[in-house]
Amino acid sequence: MGPWLNRIGRKMNRVTLEQLDLQPHDSVLEVGFGGGELLAMILAATSGEVHGVDISKPMVARARRRFRRHERLHLHRASAEALPLPDAAFDKACSVNNIYFWSDPAAVMAEFARVLRPGGRLAICFEPAYELRKWPGHEHGFRLYEGHDVQRLFAEAGFGKVRGRWGSGRKPDRFLCLSAARLGAERDA
Ligand SMILES: C[S@@+](CC[C@H](N)C(=O)[O-])C[C@H]1O[C@@H](n2cnc3c(N)ncnc32)[C@H](O)[C@@H]1O
Repeated sequence: MGPWLNRIGRKMNRVTLEQLDLQPHDSVLEVGFGGGELLAMILAATSGEVHGVDISKPMVARARRRFRRHERLHLHRASAEALPLPDAAFDKACSVNNIYFWSDPAAVMAEFARVLRPGGRLAICFEPAYELRKWPGHEHGFRLYEGHDVQRLFAEAGFGKVRGRWGSGRKPDRFLCLSAARLGAERDA
């Protein structure tokens, strides 16, 4: 499952990384890392501490083996709704192909806002509802969102101006990556 997720998520990961605008010492959180491909890209792009959270025991176990030599990487088995992380600990946070599974999206966005420093940037990458509906699997355990739904979640959680970037690939055909900075610092503007 991990390698398959890595393959289909490749373009989404690239666009998400661009949206994060990583700086050399940024500390970064990824929620729902699956196969861990984006974690590897983040580790290569920054020298800061990197944390990954995933709810799945096998995914976390696999990532622990894959990244056993990376002392800067800290992996947690936890749900996005209750991050086992301190307040204002991160410069950047991201989540790719994960939002569909959040049982309480407002709670997850509040958790992202809590663990980000003021001015810290969050990027959420997903297939919008009209795209996912083309695939019959969406009927099983997926919560669907259009871009404006996710934009509203950002605003309600205390993030600033949302910027978006569309991307396309073979699967998914079309995806959207939205990002915004947590309000509370001059550089949010
Ligand atoms: C479709 S996979 C995406 C993995 C990777 N981001 C990618 O795009 O290839 C979704 C991942 O989110 C994890 N996940 C699902 N619900 C979660 C939750 N509530 N909190 C944290 N992780 C969750 C799953 O275990 C899985 O690894």
